[in-house]
Amino acid sequence: MPEFTFLSGAGDWWRQAVIYQVYPRSFADANGDGIGDLEGVISRVDYLAELGIDAVWLSPFYPSALADGGYDVDDYRDVDPKIGTLAQFDRMTEALHERGIRVIVDVVPNHSSNRHVWFQEALAAPAGSAARERYIFREGRGENGELAPNDWPSHFGPTSWTRAPDGQWYLHLFAPEQPDFNWDNPEVRDDFLETFRFWSDRGVDGFRIDVAHALIKDMTEPFQEISGFEQANIPLDGSHPLFDRDEVHEIYASWRGVFDEYDPPRVAVAEAWVPSERRPRYASPDGLGQAFNFDLLLADWDQAQFRDIIAENLLLAAQSGSSSTWVLSNHDVIRHATRYGLPSGLSVDEVNAWLLADGGNIVENHELGLRRARAAVMLMLALPGATYLYQGEELGLFEVADLDAAALQDPQWMRSGFLRKGRDGCRVPLPWTRAGSSFGFGTDGAHLPQPGWFGGCSVEAEQDDEGSTLSLYRRVLALRKELQGAEELDWVPMSDEARPDAVLAFRRPGGWVSATNFGLAPVDLPAGRILASSSPLVGGMLTGNTTVWLATD
Ligand code: NOJ
Ligand code: CA
Repeated sequence: MPEFTFLSGAGDWWRQAVIYQVYPRSFADANGDGIGDLEGVISRVDYLAELGIDAVWLSPFYPSALADGGYDVDDYRDVDPKIGTLAQFDRMTEALHERGIRVIVDVVPNHSSNRHVWFQEALAAPAGSAARERYIFREGRGENGELAPNDWPSHFGPTSWTRAPDGQWYLHLFAPEQPDFNWDNPEVRDDFLETFRFWSDRGVDGFRIDVAHALIKDMTEPFQEISGFEQANIPLDGSHPLFDRDEVHEIYASWRGVFDEYDPPRVAVAEAWVPSERRPRYASPDGLGQAFNFDLLLADWDQAQFRDIIAENLLLAAQSGSSSTWVLSNHDVIRHATRYGLPSGLSVDEVNAWLLADGGNIVENHELGLRRARAAVMLMLALPGATYLYQGEELGLFEVADLDAAALQDPQWMRSGFLRKGRDGCRVPLPWTRAGSSFGFGTDGAHLPQPGWFGGCSVEAEQDDEGSTLSLYRRVLALRKELQGAEELDWVPMSDEARPDAVLAFRRPGGWVSATNFGLAPVDLPAGRILASSSPLVGGMLTGNTTVWLATD
């Protein structure tokens, strides 16, 4: 591999990095089969470099039947032939590295796919065999074992148990095609260490760890009752049988040993849906080193909520010895430009009902939602810590809310009894050109249908338009590189007595200020020279739903 230099070459490059999530099957399709691929990523490395990000995180690209968008992995140390080859992976890594962009890959340790060679062996082997011990098989209840061992639900549907042909049942916290590994088995532990070495040896810089809070389960009988999978139902003492058990951290300490064999040490970020107080342990330097903080992604567009979340997470980050992370969107949630156009405080069920009712493409919602989304990303990028962006948010993409039922791929749709439309609306292939087949995504269609308005949000439509969301992202990402300093922040009190709760402002080391007006009415600007704003300022005032960055030296 050629020599390459990164802007920040030190082992802590990740602390305040901007990481861009690529969902490979929906990013760019180089061979025209409708599915995004690694050559597609290679063809867009200049786009990524120009955007000004520090790293890409690739969602799974491993061989998979796509029962859950690739989070059902057949082989952790290979590339899906539908997407590319290992040689292409190496070329992609090299091309990104040459541009100073690091590479993070997604590792899915809680479950494999049902096509993984180990699960196939387990099915072929008898009850009680070593092959079955790599997964979680149990006898059923009832006279002939015809009832599942217990009534634990799965994330995607009514039960987390499926019966094998010989009558035993296996556990899957997600789809039946995603059997859960038995992490008490040293063979499973050793195999993942090998996977980390495999990718690290190929030059991968880090790992995103899927469902990091679920690996260890308490399977002692009688089984514990569980009241649901929501974060709010996870107790703070590690006593939930499935989530956030203290023993998971022993696993992460052993991974840290492998990460630290490399120079610079490989990094990892935990996807751990745990109460915030429990997050620092995942982010500990002795463990994974960083953890997603999804609090902004769950918050309303509300000054007080944002302020509390920021304050709490900066404290938690300090406790963990890590930096904080910030996220507004990813491949699992409704795009935030759409979310911010909906009324505040909707429950998940209400959002689902809205998606089912096909309300998604109402233009007024779009205008307000996008304006707030632009303000939100500037606020987020002004914070100390690392920021995770999701492909397409830089184009101001909205959720494709009116996908036909026949087009839906997400297992949530079918397994929820058609109550939850699922996550396909944020996974529609990206528009690169104003027109043409699949708007430049590929040459022959896209695996999820793109709506007509995609052309107006394409890279081609936005790249030379100063007012576009793409131009805003490029501008503020470049500015952030110049401005970002120590991981500190001081709140700036705003003096507008009439609207005390409208504005959130803070000063960063080096003297620059970010101020966001969450309200509708314009307010006075803090003093300073304007560096960037998410929407035009009118009459020297900070307009509603707008963020501004100011130099105050
Ligand atoms: C979290 C991933 O982000 C999601 O897409 C997936 O369905 C589940 N984990 C299961 O792997
Ligand atoms: Ca392809």
